[in-house]
Amino acid sequence: MIALLLAVASAAVGESFPAPQDTLGTPPVLTNLARQTGTVEVRLVAAPARLSLVAGAESDAYAYNGRVPGPTLEVWEGDRVIVHFRNELPESTTVHWHGLHVPFAADGSPFHPVPPGGQRDYVFTVQRGTAGTYWYHPHQHHRTRDQVAKGLYGAIIIRAPNDPLAAVPEKLLILADNRFLPGGSLDITDPHSVQGRVDAENGREGDVLFVNGQIMPALRIRSGEVQRWRIVNASAARMYRLAIPGHRFLHVGSDGGLFERPVETDDVLVASSERVELLVRGSGAPGSQTTLQALPYDRYVPQTRPTDWGLTRELLTVRYANEPPLQVPIALPATLRRIAPLDTADVTATRVMVLTQGFINGKVMDLGRVDATTTLGATEIWQIENLVGMDHPFHLHGFRFQVLDVDGVPVAYRSWKDTVNVPKHGTVRFIVRFDDYPGKWMFHCHILDHEDHGMMGVFEVR
Ligand code: C2O
Ligand code: CU
Ligand code: CU
Repeated sequence: MIALLLAVASAAVGESFPAPQDTLGTPPVLTNLARQTGTVEVRLVAAPARLSLVAGAESDAYAYNGRVPGPTLEVWEGDRVIVHFRNELPESTTVHWHGLHVPFAADGSPFHPVPPGGQRDYVFTVQRGTAGTYWYHPHQHHRTRDQVAKGLYGAIIIRAPNDPLAAVPEKLLILADNRFLPGGSLDITDPHSVQGRVDAENGREGDVLFVNGQIMPALRIRSGEVQRWRIVNASAARMYRLAIPGHRFLHVGSDGGLFERPVETDDVLVASSERVELLVRGSGAPGSQTTLQALPYDRYVPQTRPTDWGLTRELLTVRYANEPPLQVPIALPATLRRIAPLDTADVTATRVMVLTQGFINGKVMDLGRVDATTTLGATEIWQIENLVGMDHPFHLHGFRFQVLDVDGVPVAYRSWKDTVNVPKHGTVRFIVRFDDYPGKWMFHCHILDHEDHGMMGVFEVR
């Protein structure tokens, strides 16, 4: 272990402010009904709910176990998980465990809809080496965007016994955005209106930004403290370029858990459905405050780029406690874990996926068609080429991958990913091994409007 010494501000202790508290609204953890260790058995219900999503108004929402976001599924590597799911919605739905390596029958893909009033048990084992931050959401064909917009999303945390950051206090931040009509009802715009067509193009963005279902909540930190933030982008389309003014993050992980080493950065881009883990060092003075911001990021084509895209948006207030700075530097490991590289010498096929607006390889999604097949045990390179002037975050179900290069430039460090943003006119190559679980797996753009309109395909592992 080497100690990363923290620059601790030596400002005077604030006088008589009340001690700031978190108003983060962290979702509760799903109650484990199992008696034996190593098994997590939970109940999850999707149902309509009338909830106050914005102050002073109520909205007709959908909720998992009555709340938005849904409760967090917290498990350990190696756990056997049984989710007893019941659909009390007036429409079919599924629960997809985004990023998890689970059997086909447990994937909650559009192949296995749960009808209104129906039930389904999702049963899987949490793979070793997959500790990280994930999330769950519906995946009903053509209905994913609206079901998520109505409130169906929740976090998953997979823990590992050998977590090198286990001693660091952590916070979960689930980012979402939404749009409301004046009375407080959700603005799910008619697809034939002008705004509806802009949504189809850009993906639906809302002007109200949420962290854990709260608008501009406050997070408490002490000067000198280090916190681990697990961040999930549950937005249909919005990408967040996260920053704290004057602060440098230690970026320690992404979709599939920790990197090999921390990476120091001023800001970090989180595309729809991606996750990041950050170490935030409390370098501000006691009693001071700052904000977590989303800096402008131009993912749009000029024709539909929102006029306010260049604004910096605020997500949450970071409040420093009044206590004097912690003087003991926290020792952070220089190496977080080892990520064995997938070997390009094992590659049996290179697959090209061409993205155009709404299409993958010129086709729209057909559940009755298999777009590509491979055999169990194969290692492949997927080359995702974005031919258009808008970013598309590309997601593969069931299998995690390692990005090799972006526009031919090798990535600076290895990580496990399940979603990668393919920038406008850019090409991303990743390597993936289909080591387990035959079945039909989706690949798609994770801008939910694009996914619903068929920017998705089926990949069969035999
Ligand atoms: Cu997060 Cu196919 O989805
Ligand atoms: Cu997924
Ligand atoms: Cu897209």
